[in-house]
Amino acid sequence: MGKKLVSDFLVTENIALNKTNFLIRLASDIKLPSISPGQFVNIDINKSNEIFLRRPFSVFEVDYTNNLLSIIVKILGRGSKKLTEIQPGEKLSLIYPLGKHFTIPDKKDKILAVGGGSGLAPMLFLARESGLPPENVDIVIGARSVADLVDVDSYRKYGNIQFTTEDGSTGTKGFVTDHHLLKNEMGKYDKVYACGPDAMMKAVSSMAKKAGVFCEVSLENLMACGFGVCLCCIEPTVKGNLCVCTEGPVFNINDLKWQI
Ligand SMILES: Cc1cc2nc3c(=O)[nH]c(=O)nc-3n(C[C@H](O)[C@H](O)[C@H](O)COP(=O)(O)OP(=O)(O)OC[C@H]3O[C@@H](n4cnc5c(N)ncnc54)[C@H](O)[C@@H]3O)c2cc1C
Ligand code: FES
Repeated sequence: MGKKLVSDFLVTENIALNKTNFLIRLASDIKLPSISPGQFVNIDINKSNEIFLRRPFSVFEVDYTNNLLSIIVKILGRGSKKLTEIQPGEKLSLIYPLGKHFTIPDKKDKILAVGGGSGLAPMLFLARESGLPPENVDIVIGARSVADLVDVDSYRKYGNIQFTTEDGSTGTKGFVTDHHLLKNEMGKYDKVYACGPDAMMKAVSSMAKKAGVFCEVSLENLMACGFGVCLCCIEPTVKGNLCVCTEGPVFNINDLKWQI
């Protein structure tokens, strides 16, 4: 793993994407190191001494020319809520880049990226960084309802984006696993990637396993330090109990001890 940095970033933008998701763009004074899809930052939101531990967020976009890094924050509890209230001009301390990234696809691979909830960010980052022609990239995004989705139109140039909603308000009605690309066409992919709620990742993993397809998932275990010291993010794997923050968050499904 490369060097980890701790530094202050200037908030340049905080855009509400919908009621619960916010795009936060951060500028670094120092030149950004190379950051790959699946890696994350650990943010100190401790402005008012209320939130003690840092909170982890996947990197969504990196603009090396302007030294900008973006994240998408979904409001879950106190920390994420506070973070979405940050104003341009304020500063945030980040530890970054953390964790292991997704396996970058080979040149001719056909890939499927499945994202749900806050798992959207690394999936779109992966689609963009894959370097694949858009016809080789399928992206399925799952949500409860159309109101929970964010506008991803600018990402259509990187792949074929499809939606599922539990209430059927847009796209295929049901879960991501009800989408025909997962249900009927899983076997055509060289690599499948997933990030989102555990139940979703387990279901996708199970389908990939049955189809005999390479599959990586990005786990969102609770974290504190983010760099292997506190041991609060342990995941049982076939290689023993591993820290998700340093040995993950990206894991090959064959390494996980999930009952899938
Ligand atoms: C590697 C990694 C990448 C992540 N990337 C993103 C991202 O790009 N965008 C994003 O919005 N979120 C992301 N998350 C999740 C984010 O870190 C949590 O939503 C955030 O830390 C919650 O903090 P909070 O103070 O708002 O909630 P808390 O007040 O700490 O928790 C509120 C409730 O949610 C539960 N909870 C907290 N964290 C999680 C979690 N990770 N999974 C399930 N339940 C949880 C708590 O147990 C509690 O019940 C990521 C997590 C990890 C580990
Ligand atoms: S979060 Fe501290 S060891 Fe992983």
